[in-house]
Amino acid sequence: MSDEIKTDLFDLFLGPKGENSRYFEELVSRVIRSHSDLRANYSKDDLSLLKGIPGSPKLEEELIKFLELQKNNLPYFHPRYSAQMLKDPTIPSILGYLAFIMSNPNNHAWEGGPVTTEMELEVVETLLKMCGFKSGWGHLASGGSLANMEAVWAARDYYGNGTVFFSEVSHYSWKRICKILNIDSYEEVAVDGNFRMNLNSLEDALKKSNKPLMVVANFGSTGAGSVDNIEGIIELKSRYNFHLHIDAAYGGFFRSCILDDNYGLLPYDHEGEVSLHSYNQLKHFAEADSITIDPHKQGFMQYGAGAVIYKDEALREPLSNTAPYTYHKTDKPNIGMFSLEGSRPGAMAAACYLTYKVLPPVASGLGSLLKLSLASANKFSELMDLSDNFNNFSKNDLDICTATTIAGDDVAEINKKNLEIYQRLSVENPDAPFIISKFVVSPEILARANPNLKNINNENFSALRTVFMKHWNALDDFRYVRELVEEMNLR
Ligand SMILES: Cc1ncc(COP(=O)(O)O)c(C=O)c1O
Repeated sequence: MSDEIKTDLFDLFLGPKGENSRYFEELVSRVIRSHSDLRANYSKDDLSLLKGIPGSPKLEEELIKFLELQKNNLPYFHPRYSAQMLKDPTIPSILGYLAFIMSNPNNHAWEGGPVTTEMELEVVETLLKMCGFKSGWGHLASGGSLANMEAVWAARDYYGNGTVFFSEVSHYSWKRICKILNIDSYEEVAVDGNFRMNLNSLEDALKKSNKPLMVVANFGSTGAGSVDNIEGIIELKSRYNFHLHIDAAYGGFFRSCILDDNYGLLPYDHEGEVSLHSYNQLKHFAEADSITIDPHKQGFMQYGAGAVIYKDEALREPLSNTAPYTYHKTDKPNIGMFSLEGSRPGAMAAACYLTYKVLPPVASGLGSLLKLSLASANKFSELMDLSDNFNNFSKNDLDICTATTIAGDDVAEINKKNLEIYQRLSVENPDAPFIISKFVVSPEILARANPNLKNINNENFSALRTVFMKHWNALDDFRYVRELVEEMNLR
């Protein structure tokens, strides 16, 4: 680790063993009390309509059964779980959500949530600063798919229809988005051995295109967390003229790792956790035209918080929409007038707002926690390199690793061994001591990623996939990363 671990930030979490639960309970009570006082004090002279119930036996009976159901959930909060993109939400994100869900504001129109609309605008300002945009527009969305879809819609109607280019390992929603929006055509561009878009293939495709509309660069692809060469794509943009959208739904918050307290770029740290490749692409975020960046992935928020930002506010104009029954306050910001989605929870904006007040997305704040995730992935990758039984399948760009067993050149044999480990250390095994996932690639992609492999047959190949989103993985000299590798070694 390049820096001292900032242990005071751990107070912002319930903790993998509920270590901070007493403090959390106290804060939750404070939030509920404050909201109840607000109700009591509103129009103070009104007489109460209720006596105040002694309790509801039916609710209590159902609640007991309901709380039992939690046990069937997977341990997403624990460093033994590294399978999918499930971040442990912070205490401020839960408190922020709770405080405003009790009055249930709707950020679709200002009058539906005046306070939380202002909060959302401030959160968007923070995201713009984090991405290096000097100005611009954006808003929260229910998730990355909707955020990406809106960006394509805005680009299509702003510039006119054309071709959208994205790599063959991009999120599955890209093809759907192009179909739903009747995009003229889309091209899935081949990737290299590290699952990054091959820029020669991109250029070949651009040359053939009558009207390139948008190139989508991944900053953190879903399967392998790979980071496309944004620097190179910007060079192509100057010659082929397209809208550059970065799908940083997963990895965008890693930009906080390279920002000082004023959101200025820090120099590259040779001893640090962010790779030079990732640093060089993060540096160029400000040259994109739009970015999807999801607080509910690496932004420490609970699900339901995606976001899209645009460098040029003019891109929202084609989306402009009004209705006879809402947006009456024309002198106030009505976010819904320019967003694909209608009703959106003000509580989510409040949760983001409080979280980024306490945990600003800069290197000394949120970034210091993300560096622990990167350090964990880098440690896992190092252990794979040192191992006689495993190899890295690709070199991790972020905190997602893919690995494979070593079993000669025979693809079928390697695949079988990988799947055996997957069966033992995944949701397939109810007693699994660690839960990881798999990254399934087609024979064509496998051949490109691993040119040395022989006997590639026509079956899909499964690599072992670990998503080290829990910063707890770096603690106690990477205790859980080491134990995971030991478990993988048991045959
Ligand atoms: C790179 C990328 N883009 C888009 C999405 C879609 O986001 P959501 O599931 O929030 O709609 C994901 C989800 O994993 C993703 O990893």
